[in-house]
Amino acid sequence: MTTVTERLEPDSAGLDRAAALLARGDCVAFPTETVYGLGADARQSRAVAAIFAAKGRPQFNPLIVHVADLAAAEAIAHFDADAHALADAFWPGPLTLVLPLRDGSGISDLVTAGLRTVGIRVPAGEVAQSLLRSFGGPVAAPSANPSGKVSPTTADHVLEGLEGRIAAVLDGGPADVGIESTIIGCFDHPRLLRPGGLPAEAIETALGRPLAHAPTSDSPNAPGQLPSHYAPDAPIRLNATEARPGERLLGFGPDATDAALNLSPSGDLVEAAANLFAYLRRLDAGGSGPIAVSPIPDHGLGRAINDRLTRAAAPRG
Ligand code: TXA
Ligand code: MG
Repeated sequence: MTTVTERLEPDSAGLDRAAALLARGDCVAFPTETVYGLGADARQSRAVAAIFAAKGRPQFNPLIVHVADLAAAEAIAHFDADAHALADAFWPGPLTLVLPLRDGSGISDLVTAGLRTVGIRVPAGEVAQSLLRSFGGPVAAPSANPSGKVSPTTADHVLEGLEGRIAAVLDGGPADVGIESTIIGCFDHPRLLRPGGLPAEAIETALGRPLAHAPTSDSPNAPGQLPSHYAPDAPIRLNATEARPGERLLGFGPDATDAALNLSPSGDLVEAAANLFAYLRRLDAGGSGPIAVSPIPDHGLGRAINDRLTRAAAPRG
């Protein structure tokens, strides 16, 4: 299906238009503080199906539901004491909680992939908040990129991948965090399902105890399902201290003097996360040959960056 993709400004006319498109069951890409999401009304199965169609996404992946506040989240999922503590500490913000689904929530089975749990978050971006309030309902949204490609952090990135396949993109400028939300499963013991824009250390501090890590074998498909994900077209070589002939170096820190692009010359992991997807895109578009990547320290946001880079470097399936 092709359509003309509208580019909407984040003013009241643009927000009203985006909310009206969502209400009639269309897909609208919108900015959050992490990355751009491809949104649809989480209660309309046809609208949710259109997300999968636009992304070309394997359907076994459940989607995150976005709501404006904790009260709206509590209408959809059951919160235990840990979930409440985390929501109080970090919402609105780059944290997704996977929680038991409430009966009668109205959420489409396509959103949860038929699971009895639901991933839910309250995004912090001002434009995301305004859109959720204008629309007044839950919005299912994966990242707004074709399946398996790098997540978008600007409206231009969204259009590069999805122009003609979605009704509109709401342009709120570059995403602040630049990397997807951290996902925590809250059942018996809070468990890290995906490292992301909120460092796991901060979550452990708020909980007052360590997170469980590896997903159990009987837990629902945690993200990371597909080993090669977030992949640019160029091959990726990790932990590179310099570019070999024919390679371009994606650097990190002051030592990467021969870098084509440096995620953070000062070695700041927050800056590096914000630049990661945009720089991978630029290197991918700007030449052929492999992309070599400097070592990234594996703490704080570095864990999320390394998770994404490891997937980008995985053998392509
Ligand atoms: O920052 C983000 O999280 C962005 C923005 C748009 O909010 N969204 C995002 O969505 O990254 P997506 O669809 O690319 O990743 C959602 C991940 C999936 O990998 C899925 O496996 C996991 O969340 N997920 C969602 N619901 C789940 C559930 N009930 N159980 C386990 N994992 C779940
Ligand atoms: Mg994604």
